[in-house]
Amino acid sequence: MGEINMDDEYQKLMKYFKNPKNVGIINNPDGYARVKNPICGDLTDIYIKIEKNRIKQVKFKSFGCLVTIASASALSKAVKDKNLDEIVETINPVETLIGLLMKEFGNLPREKLHCPPAPVHALLLAISDYYKKSNRLDKLKKIDNVLSDIEKYYKK
Ligand code: FES
Repeated sequence: MGEINMDDEYQKLMKYFKNPKNVGIINNPDGYARVKNPICGDLTDIYIKIEKNRIKQVKFKSFGCLVTIASASALSKAVKDKNLDEIVETINPVETLIGLLMKEFGNLPREKLHCPPAPVHALLLAISDYYKKSNRLDKLKKIDNVLSDIEKYYKK
């Protein structure tokens, strides 16, 4: 029997899935969120630690599929050490972060397009939680605004 011929994107997904980065929890996180994917019901948790307005640590746990775990892993790598303003103050943070994952993984099958938004959603909610706890009300308003229409990205 011959080898399965996997394309590059699938190989990338498998690489992240088999060796996911930043899996786990952070005790006493500065920000935390759990998202239940509205399409499939799978859960993703994200924990962050912030230092000098930067994401010093990010960890995730997910009861999701291969695409969600690979996405959470790639996302956690991409945002580690990033300044929060760099993430939140971009024109459309949701589209930017989902776009980053789509670029990494290429053409996902249509039935898997609802998976990458979940870790992005959880990350932005964890940042929102941090802003709430640290009483940064202007930033909180901005991120809540960003999150107000996030549901539509699950249906793309
Ligand atoms: Fe539920 Fe991908 S997260 S199918």
